Amino acid sequence: MNGTTPVIYAQDLVKEFGPVRALDNLNLNIAPGEVHGYLGPNGAGKSVTMRVLLGLLRPDSGTIRLFGQDPWKDAVELHRRLAYVPGDVELWPNLTGGEVIDMFLRLRSNAGEANFSPKKRDELIERFDLDPRKKTRTYSKGNRQKVALISALAADVDLLLLDEPTAGLDPLMEVVFQEVITEAKTEGKSVLLSSHILAQVEALSDRLSIIRAGHIVESGTLSELRHMTRTTIEVETAQPTTPLHGLSFIHDMHAEGERTVFEVDGDHVGEVMDSLSGLGIRSIVAHPPTLEQLLMRHYGDDLSSRGVSASTTKKVS
Ligand SMILES: Nc1ncnc2c1ncn2[C@@H]1O[C@H](COP(=O)(O)OP(=O)(O)O)[C@@H](O)[C@H]1O
Ligand SMILES: [Mg+2]
Repeated sequence: MNGTTPVIYAQDLVKEFGPVRALDNLNLNIAPGEVHGYLGPNGAGKSVTMRVLLGLLRPDSGTIRLFGQDPWKDAVELHRRLAYVPGDVELWPNLTGGEVIDMFLRLRSNAGEANFSPKKRDELIERFDLDPRKKTRTYSKGNRQKVALISALAADVDLLLLDEPTAGLDPLMEVVFQEVITEAKTEGKSVLLSSHILAQVEALSDRLSIIRAGHIVESGTLSELRHMTRTTIEVETAQPTTPLHGLSFIHDMHAEGERTVFEVDGDHVGEVMDSLSGLGIRSIVAHPPTLEQLLMRHYGDDLSSRGVSASTTKKVS
């Protein structure tokens, strides 16, 4: 680890709720300044991980350290250094958005000393296009998320724990989100960003971990995980696509007239594009893989046997 203390270090974490093993020997490492995508289907254990990191849940066994400290014992110190955005933000309905943001920010002031920049707060309110004068009871889910995001991003912290923070945001705001996270990274902040949608985290993440049934099944940079992903390509070409037939990195190819549909392994997309352009592309559509496709392809059979399916992963809370 180059001698630096990891921002997050989790080793063999186990957390059970009765018969449910929510975390099953989970290992996670995040270096300072890293944006880490935390990917997993619903019910995989992302939020439980966040709650252990926050010191809200105590693991049954294993080691968990934030900045080398124990979130269960050192919560007061640690919470000065981190900000958290939950997926489902609840606010004081009778306060305005602006009042709530200021309250969040003042709550984390250090011995009466504010540790946030009002300028940055106002700039974020503007960029997220939030009306801070309205009572939060009138806010949509997306607006409540904006309040939590603005409060977290305006705070002077070292670590952002973001649990599916963009679920209620429209595509335009998703772009703003990508920008502000990139800026936070430039400021040296570390980010743990969870999602069940691959496309939401892949652009931002230095590294990714994929959690399934409480266990990390893959971890690495996007290019290290590229071998796992397949892009679906629909193409119309002037010449037949026969040169592509039978290549080991092309799968499920269907050709009909000028139109060909196939899947290509993520680390061979460039090569295939070169071949296709030699065949005279008339039109082309590429679909990135979804997390579900990725997990089903690699762990498909195992998924059902371990109870990770839509019907069994609903939250009990
Ligand atoms: N407080 C709780 N009591 C019982 N089971 C829980 C509790 N919190 C989470 N779980 C279970 O733990 C598993 C992981 O949940 P969670 O971390 O919320 O998943 P997600 O990846 O969707 O955030 C699920 O099976 C969920 O039902
Ligand atoms: Mg969750």
